[in-house]
Amino acid sequence: MDYSAKLDEAIQQLHDEGRYRTFIDIEREQGNFPHAVWNKPDGTKQPVTVWCGNDYLGMGQNPVVMDAMHEAIKATGSGSGGTRNISGTTAYHKRLEAELADLHGKESALLFTSAYIANDATLSTLPKLFPGLIIYSDALNHASMIEGVRRNGGAKRVFRHNDVEHLRELLEADDPDAPKLIAFESIYSMDGDFGPIEAICDIADEFGALTYIDEVHAVGMYGPRGGGITERDRLAHRVDIINGTLAKAYGVMGGYITATDKMCDAIRSYAPGFIFTTSLPPAVAAGAAASVHHLKSDQDRRDQQQQQAKILKLRLKGLGLPIIDHGSHIVPVMVGDPVHTKALSDMLLDQFGIYVQPINFPTVPRGTERLRFTPSPVHGPEEMDKLVNALDELWSHCALNRAELAG
Ligand SMILES: Cc1ncc(COP(=O)(O)O)c(C=O)c1O
Repeated sequence: MDYSAKLDEAIQQLHDEGRYRTFIDIEREQGNFPHAVWNKPDGTKQPVTVWCGNDYLGMGQNPVVMDAMHEAIKATGSGSGGTRNISGTTAYHKRLEAELADLHGKESALLFTSAYIANDATLSTLPKLFPGLIIYSDALNHASMIEGVRRNGGAKRVFRHNDVEHLRELLEADDPDAPKLIAFESIYSMDGDFGPIEAICDIADEFGALTYIDEVHAVGMYGPRGGGITERDRLAHRVDIINGTLAKAYGVMGGYITATDKMCDAIRSYAPGFIFTTSLPPAVAAGAAASVHHLKSDQDRRDQQQQQAKILKLRLKGLGLPIIDHGSHIVPVMVGDPVHTKALSDMLLDQFGIYVQPINFPTVPRGTERLRFTPSPVHGPEEMDKLVNALDELWSHCALNRAELAG
């Protein structure tokens, strides 16, 4: 086989479909978030404002977090030097797991190198623990959940997004005695809509199923202590396994699950994605623990972020831009074409110093390509004005549709 020609072909296909991904090289400026410097391909630099990051609360540059990381580096050095089982468990990992278990009101927590790995490793391990397990997975679940369910060798059923009646039909069609698990998210990050947690917990009770929720886009952001939508809606006790990330609102890196002691013990002992990989650097665990701890009491920051999202949505709606609004902190503006989305993103960056990455297939279905804005408490009024004016100008310039897609 001509391997090189095959690679050319695969890459060309992405160009032809307008979804070849170009990574924008940016330098975040410590203490100056959301401002950054764009290292342009021609070697020059341009100041930009980041509008598409998932450091939703600006915690990635919070002194509380950075101090904890500096102290841990001074105390222990850089890497952990081992897997959790072989010399890679430290007081920092233990403290972070305790913070997380407490955050969700669960007995235990288990750290992974990312939430992607936490989802994949846990969901692919559960059928080993519950032979014959059937997993019911929401159609719009994140790639990491899909991958975990796909690889686990057990049975899977995909229910239409947020459609509890369809879920019921699928549950009814299966053996009542088979072990079952329902996997879904609390906030679907591309549309910003919420999962029907209570209805899913009710149906899980009815059919004797376990529940697994991905709260990646909600932890730190919702609930009086940042425990996510399950905390906000007082449902955490009804969900068997809660998954979250330390890389978005908490501004660091890493992922986790929280559950009973027994569940965490079993996953810890059977999941290759937990066992056979080096644990997080202690400094990362220290920073994440400081961030989780801090956000348990910093409600102001959560309120400011929600306020910013509301203002941005109102202003964009006022201009008739096609935003999706489900009342969460995520602000997607629909474009519906990969080439146009990329062109808009390029113009925003080049002409206005506004960095928003185009979102296209396979992250979202074809025909729903979009720009996804993530306002934070530190995007000031000036930045907001610049963004709104730039979008207004570009929408007119490109003669784009201004009809609103109500959520
Ligand atoms: C819903 C969802 N789950 C899991 C992940 C993975 O999180 P992490 O970046 O910690 O691997 C993401 C990342 O974007 C996500 O959107």
